[in-house]
Amino acid sequence: MHRRHFLALIGLALLPHIALAQRAPVEAEHGMVVSASQLASQIGTDILKRGGNAADAAVATGIALAVTYPRAGNLGGGGFATLRLADGRATTIDFRETAPAAASRDMYLDAQGQVIQGQSTVGYKASGVPGTVAGLALLHRKYGSGKLSWTELLEPARRLAEQGFTVSTALARDLRSSERLLGRFPESRRVFLRDGKPYNAGETFKQPDLAKTLQRLQKGGAAEFYTGETAKLLAADMATNGGTIKLADLAAYRAVERAPITGKYRGHDIITMGSPSSGGVALLQMLGMLETRDVGSLGFHSAAQIHLFAEVMRRAFRDRAMFMGDADFVQVPTEKLLDKAYIAGLMKDFDPNRATSSDALKPAPAPRAESRQTTHFSVVDAAGNAVAITYTLNGLYGNGVTVPGAGFLLNNEMDDFTSKVGVANDYGLIQGEANAIAPGKRPLSSMSPTIVLKDGKPFLITGSPGGPTIINTVLQVITNVIDFEMNVTRAVDAPRFHHQWQPDTIRYEPYFASADTIALLAAKGHRFGQRRIYQNVPEDEGRNQGDAETIMIDPRNGLRLGASDVRSADAGAVGF
Ligand code: DON
Repeated sequence: MHRRHFLALIGLALLPHIALAQRAPVEAEHGMVVSASQLASQIGTDILKRGGNAADAAVATGIALAVTYPRAGNLGGGGFATLRLADGRATTIDFRETAPAAASRDMYLDAQGQVIQGQSTVGYKASGVPGTVAGLALLHRKYGSGKLSWTELLEPARRLAEQGFTVSTALARDLRSSERLLGRFPESRRVFLRDGKPYNAGETFKQPDLAKTLQRLQKGGAAEFYTGETAKLLAADMATNGGTIKLADLAAYRAVERAPITGKYRGHDIITMGSPSSGGVALLQMLGMLETRDVGSLGFHSAAQIHLFAEVMRRAFRDRAMFMGDADFVQVPTEKLLDKAYIAGLMKDFDPNRATSSDALKPAPAPRAESRQTTHFSVVDAAGNAVAITYTLNGLYGNGVTVPGAGFLLNNEMDDFTSKVGVANDYGLIQGEANAIAPGKRPLSSMSPTIVLKDGKPFLITGSPGGPTIINTVLQVITNVIDFEMNVTRAVDAPRFHHQWQPDTIRYEPYFASADTIALLAAKGHRFGQRRIYQNVPEDEGRNQGDAETIMIDPRNGLRLGASDVRSADAGAVGF
């Protein structure tokens, strides 16, 4: 054996926890967990091995991400779970944050009616009432195997928080890149920046306060978070700092089980997230517009295919802005939006040679890109139960506030509401009246945890972070597999692009298309927006779109094929 290979093997043997970047799908016979953190995926898979089902493993993984992936993994945020059970039932759990009672329609406007910069994104007024703990508890109570207790599911994460884990290059870089935000809040500075001495790769990151919070949750269940000591710590910090969330808001929070949004694409069943996410409806609209056309024959990332997709995205995102909000509060015409004739009508004015102008409908706001500040993970167990979860703090490290003594960050999900009709939010989204702020209401989301069935059996489990780009990322993963017949890793890794109606531009990743393809698109009238280049991150990451931690189940033999996204440095697919 070559000496270098031999030494590398010894090195691997000595470092059993090293994350191995594997670019072919990870294959397993029984179960698989894919998440943005190899450590968290391992914890989920261990639960499967101990006889837990996919719901149990998802709970353990979700809590572990709150320890190992603090930029998005969370206790202080919210999200959605899409489930497809082995017995054929499909459901979703909505644990989206809610606006607190003190919130109001114009809370982010000054006396002149102008949006006050930063109020909906940074600090104590930016948070919605967190839903993650309630959501994961509901998932365990209703869909867990019953073989593993809540306490057992939280234990691996608690231990990791208490004993610490090795800081990766990516985590060290992430924390440093957020020094400005985290440094504004003393408790965040203490916990995540070690009081001004940020962690280096290779050091051990211990989170004793978070470990204690997890221990309290083990003893008191989700109720502890909403009415116990943790609730008191959170509400007291809010009260001291002019925040909006009160004990009563926490006590009133409920995760809700909702029927999924379902549809078809070329004979496959699509199970995805409905209100208060816009993702499912927009995804099914786009698939509906594509289904009548032979996408595969256009060729991957030909000018014709990119043009078609951009036009489809433009139309779905216009409907998102015009019609969507929390359906518990406003009328969302979901049935109409998903009606076959209506969807066909959307494409009546499609011209294969010309870009439609979004400007004809509404003025364009300044663009603003996104990164991986949300996280998605996918789970399947041996019986075939499948769980897709996307959850978030919204922005990178949320609103920047760590609850003193509790060790976890709070979200800035209030920015997903319409602060002012017609004014772009942090993702450049123009939003409508349907998404206006009201007490108890959930802000409109784009998170789209999605399960695709083939011949009635789970085939793809996918989702992504990325604000509005989420919906287009999920669309591209699905069409890469179904129309372009890519294997799951290639489908996930392939360069992506995004159009969201306003601003009227196609934004794309590096290596997305050739210069002559771009020229063909420009000749059709398309304009292009650069993705934001982040400081302190490698150039590629700064221009990435999403992080689709995906599982495919091979219809021929049932093998679980895990694909962690090439864009995500610490991600891992772990199966058995
Ligand atoms: O719910 C939403 O649509 C957003 N809060 C998701 C934010 C997100 O994906 C951030 N990651 N880039």
